[in-house]
Amino acid sequence: MNQLSQLQKLTIAVISLLMIVLPAHAQDAVLTPIVRYEGIHHPVLSRAGMVVTQNAIASQVGADILARGGNAVDAAVAIGFTLAVTRPRAGNLGGGGFMLVHLAGEGKTIAIDYREMAPAAATRDMFLDAADDVDNTKARFSHLSAGVPGTVAGMHYALTHYGTMSWAEIIQPAIELAESGFPISYDLSGRLDAYSKWLTRNDALRAVFYLADLTPRPAGELLLQPDLAWTLKQISAYGPDAFYRGAIADKIVAEMETGYGLITKADLAAYKVTEREPVRGTYRGHEVIAMPPPSSGGIHIIQMLNILETYDLAALGQNSAASLHLMTEAMRRAFADRSQHLGDPDHYTVPVDWLISKEYGQALASEIDPTHATPSSDVSPGAPAPYESPDTTHFSVIDRDGNAVANTYTINFSFGSGIMVSGAGFLLNNEMDDFSAKPGTANAFGLLGGEANAIEPTKRPLSSMTPTLVLKDGQPILVTGSPGGSRIITAVLQAIVNAVDFNLNVAEGVHRPRIHHQWYPDTLLVEPGMSVDTVGVLKALGHEIAQTSRTSGSVQSVGSSGPGSFYGAADPRSPDGLAIGVDVIEASAFMAE
Ligand code: GLY
Repeated sequence: MNQLSQLQKLTIAVISLLMIVLPAHAQDAVLTPIVRYEGIHHPVLSRAGMVVTQNAIASQVGADILARGGNAVDAAVAIGFTLAVTRPRAGNLGGGGFMLVHLAGEGKTIAIDYREMAPAAATRDMFLDAADDVDNTKARFSHLSAGVPGTVAGMHYALTHYGTMSWAEIIQPAIELAESGFPISYDLSGRLDAYSKWLTRNDALRAVFYLADLTPRPAGELLLQPDLAWTLKQISAYGPDAFYRGAIADKIVAEMETGYGLITKADLAAYKVTEREPVRGTYRGHEVIAMPPPSSGGIHIIQMLNILETYDLAALGQNSAASLHLMTEAMRRAFADRSQHLGDPDHYTVPVDWLISKEYGQALASEIDPTHATPSSDVSPGAPAPYESPDTTHFSVIDRDGNAVANTYTINFSFGSGIMVSGAGFLLNNEMDDFSAKPGTANAFGLLGGEANAIEPTKRPLSSMTPTLVLKDGQPILVTGSPGGSRIITAVLQAIVNAVDFNLNVAEGVHRPRIHHQWYPDTLLVEPGMSVDTVGVLKALGHEIAQTSRTSGSVQSVGSSGPGSFYGAADPRSPDGLAIGVDVIEASAFMAE
């Protein structure tokens, strides 16, 4: 049996010789097997901070701010403005979102809600036609579809409360990119091509992104956005007042008047950022901190983790049919509750404590049959005890001191409503479509909504955005989030489970194929790359499988194993994304670890 090949004998001889002639530390290197990684995919490693976004230019802007001594909030706000220029399909000034800020020194996490608000003139039935059906064109592609934007106010709130650098300094990179241009990526040009029929209908938008023959500006061409540069300079010089009360507000209102929209100067002046208490849960000894309503994401992440904690997922195996079955059943039950219990907490009492309680998680887990899929028709939203769309963009940042930001913001659809504010160069959201235009019917993401999310003046539409932090002993070990409409929540769930249960590094945890289920439609979406054998077993368990070529979310994660040890991974599902570390640890050092 002891028959070594000529090659093996030669290798041993070479190693033996080197053991004699090389110094001790080099001998260690020789003894290290050439390939001994535990994962196929590896994160970027750094000592002094990490930035992960869906756009390489924005990642560089954020990393430069960290390298200059800015904190995670400074970098996040600079990224927020930069993405409005370099990733116009989701980065924005005309939308809104949610930011979690973890302050390492105080051991405190803050949730900043800068979600859009319905204009004062919005009405419950504003999107219903004469036959009482939802008019989707009105709800998604008209001036009526825009909520009052929150991004500029949100960025200002974050910077002035938790940042260290000046407003003008933070906005300057975005101004320069809008004014001097940046090379259009294949991804941006391709998306403009895919949506050209719809997007070329808006004159201002067409002039920025398309050539005279209505083909998209090609990859490699510099994209110049002079109107957007003007807007950013106004915001830089006059603060959020420029947007909510000044020259930009005038342009927004003029745009509304041409398109019969509802947003008035009074709506803009009344816009308010709200700092909220995050929702918190625990999962196998980790603390999970996430966004509270009006995002549904945080509640349902904790609810699903509570269900899954009752099972030994690690023993079942990553992406095994058994673990995917349990995750699907948890997703199904969480989305059923979403349809009824979630809405803007300023207008509706959301039973948060009950939904995220361990007891309710255990009760839901006890309904799961490990050998059969439960038809969604057998799953109803639970009754609380009496005592109690598809583009968006996410970025994660951590600085050298361990301050962290998880930010998800959006204009809802890719390129929002497709309406650019004339003379101001930014796109308006179509976030009013995230309300339940007719409670009991589904929105663009197939999500059913209830009375809790009916349209009301000044209300914030329910969201799936899920910026999330996972802490161990008070230190963030995972800062994460994703775009993807309803798929955000399930993509983030899998990022957490991959880190905690399966001990995957952030790159591996982000890259692995994912699933998605949202109660209705009663279909399990399976990403390309999932084993056909696994899919076969899931079918045999009774799941209706939809295997599409579409991917699910785009998770942007930062990991940390303590001070001076940061890991970053941009999801390869978004071709323009990049993780950039500050004081990067070279791959050779990683190999020797
Ligand atoms: N517009 C998608 C979301 O907020 O979830």
